[in-house]
Amino acid sequence: MKHALIDTDPGVDDALALLLAFSSPELRVEGLTTVAGNVSLDLGSLNALKLLDFLGVEGVPVAAGAEKPLLRKCRDASSIHGETGLGGATLPEPNGRLDERGAVEFILEKAGELGRGLTLITIGPLTNIAGAILARPSVIDEISGLVMMGGAFGLTPYGHGNVSPVAEFNVWHDPEAAKIVFDSGIPITAIGLDVTTDPANRLTGASFKEIEATGTIRASFVADLCRHLIVRYGGVSLHDPLAVAAVIDPSLVETERVAVEVETRGEVTRGMTLVDRRRTHREELKEANVEACVSVDSVRFLDLIFERVVRGL
Ligand code: RIB
Ligand code: CA
Repeated sequence: MKHALIDTDPGVDDALALLLAFSSPELRVEGLTTVAGNVSLDLGSLNALKLLDFLGVEGVPVAAGAEKPLLRKCRDASSIHGETGLGGATLPEPNGRLDERGAVEFILEKAGELGRGLTLITIGPLTNIAGAILARPSVIDEISGLVMMGGAFGLTPYGHGNVSPVAEFNVWHDPEAAKIVFDSGIPITAIGLDVTTDPANRLTGASFKEIEATGTIRASFVADLCRHLIVRYGGVSLHDPLAVAAVIDPSLVETERVAVEVETRGEVTRGMTLVDRRRTHREELKEANVEACVSVDSVRFLDLIFERVVRGL
């Protein structure tokens, strides 16, 4: 059993990731922290509370975090996730209320309580994590590490950006926060676009039809979440669920240890996660700081999605 804290900006794929996390006996989710990203902080926090009710989960705190990046303005992704942030899915007003602790306070409290027993799973911009590191730098050594959905590392043919030719949204939205996290020394496993946009790891139109035909409340909710993306793009990238799956079963992914720098000053390169793979100039090489995912057992990953997200345990 792994104890995890999930930092999220729900978001369609965040919702799928939470369905996976709370249907997996390998994980004990100690709490959710919310961050501005796909949608505003308030809307993301509301969606987190709604999703816990939908899942019948009680006693898991939801602590709201940053309503904007460290230095920049918010640039949401409502064009992808819809005005509610949950695509075409609708959920009733939540019974639960936000925790009175803020995200940074909650992260640091859980780190102090669980130590190496805690894994941070980040599936949104890294603003809250950067805030925790700035508030208590020792936190990087207290916990077991951080598994993120984030980055585009150029390590596979799919390793280019989504929000720009070179940048992945979670890093791009708050590049200063991402730089703090990547440079901090915290053990990082990064599930980037290199693998999440590989067609072998995406939900296809055929799979979607299978989900629609299932007819259960849960499967219908998943279909409502994804339908607009299937219509528009012919498939759905399971970015955030893959990060959660990598914690549930690390054997699903293979990684390459690489040295990553985050671009914070570029105009066209804002949020680029630059990998230095030079084998010469060794004295110039930055120390490798990230286990970047380069391949996925796609069949087992998609089986896990159907078993635990669509059908539920
Ligand atoms: O680039 C994909 C990431 O950005 C995912 O976490 C998605 O939810 C958005 O936040
Ligand atoms: Ca997300």
